[in-house]
Amino acid sequence: MDFSGPEHENGTATAKPAVTIFVCASCRATEGSTEEPRQGTHLLHATIKAAAQQPEVTIKSVNCLSNCKRGPSAVIARQDGWTYIFGHLALENAGDLITGAELIATSSDGLMPWKGRPDCLKRNMIARIPPFDFNA
Ligand code: FES
Repeated sequence: MDFSGPEHENGTATAKPAVTIFVCASCRATEGSTEEPRQGTHLLHATIKAAAQQPEVTIKSVNCLSNCKRGPSAVIARQDGWTYIFGHLALENAGDLITGAELIATSSDGLMPWKGRPDCLKRNMIARIPPFDFNA
């Protein structure tokens, strides 16, 4: 599901977003948990709520990022920049995901700066992926 597009959930028109947060709605709170809705779904909704004042950030739901044992999981991707995968996220990290999206959106090199990055986006980073046209 895409929670942005021409109209954000608050009904305002948005420009083409530079950054997308993908939240895995299928992640469980703990391995084997049968809780429904799943913790990932709660994180998705918390992130949508946290982004209410940030119409330039797109939030998308995804089912499984192949990071299940280290979930809840989310990705922050800049269209012309780097992509970051995070795990072990908690509901209270929803606002941190928005902060990370703002940091990468405004960086000059497409990387998420370390300075100002919320602790959970430092400690719980699983991987970062270069842009498609990256050349070392
Ligand atoms: S179910 Fe969330 S990463 Fe697999």
